[in-house]
Amino acid sequence: MTAHINAEIGDFAETVLMPGDPLRAKFIADTYLQDVREVTNVRNMLGFTGTYKGMPLSVMGHGMGMPSISIYAHELIHEYGVKNLMRIGSCGAVCEELKLLDLVVATGASCSSSINRERFSGYDFAAVPDFALLKACADTAEKLKLSPAFGNILSDDLFYGSSPALLPAMQKMNILAVEMEAAALFAIAAEARVQALCMLTVSDHLITSEQATSEQRQTSFNQMMELALETAFEVSK
Ligand code: HPA
Repeated sequence: MTAHINAEIGDFAETVLMPGDPLRAKFIADTYLQDVREVTNVRNMLGFTGTYKGMPLSVMGHGMGMPSISIYAHELIHEYGVKNLMRIGSCGAVCEELKLLDLVVATGASCSSSINRERFSGYDFAAVPDFALLKACADTAEKLKLSPAFGNILSDDLFYGSSPALLPAMQKMNILAVEMEAAALFAIAAEARVQALCMLTVSDHLITSEQATSEQRQTSFNQMMELALETAFEVSK
């Protein structure tokens, strides 16, 4: 047991899919996994372990923002021996080419906070996903005839009230979308020499101000889940 996870050692699979919302984690476990059991519920941050096509797989919520995902990722890696962490979340699009509900896979995560500078002696850390996971994801997407946008995203500390200068800066530097966790996850994984990946669906558009309805979100979520599950299966072979 750790401060934030009340699972036994060995309760988590080597690969953990991580949505922000713990009830989403429960939904994923109930919908896509077999032989599911709840392994943690501290602060209602639910985690489950089951199997997917016979492969052990866990799913656990990570909450909102970089401090929250940092706590869970650290404990999963350092206390429970987790090796592959895949964030599956939503994002706000910041480029014209992306449409609502498109899939985005981060090939890097820029950051508006100082969280990684603290880890990196004040320098600017290039937070990137693991190449093998990224390649498995790209290959899997091709097999599934999905066409995610691969590119740089930005992890923001603020959902409300970000600096007005941030949107034009992101557009200038070809950032695809904004979310709130990936940069921290990538840095924690790099430091621990484990693998991380982040895939997202566009839930809102910062240029057009469109927002996906909950029905629309469900369909695009199913596609992202297929990509996440099959990528996890590929890397476990
Ligand atoms: N900002 C930050 N995180 C998000 C957003 C956003 O606009 N949309 C979905 N996740």
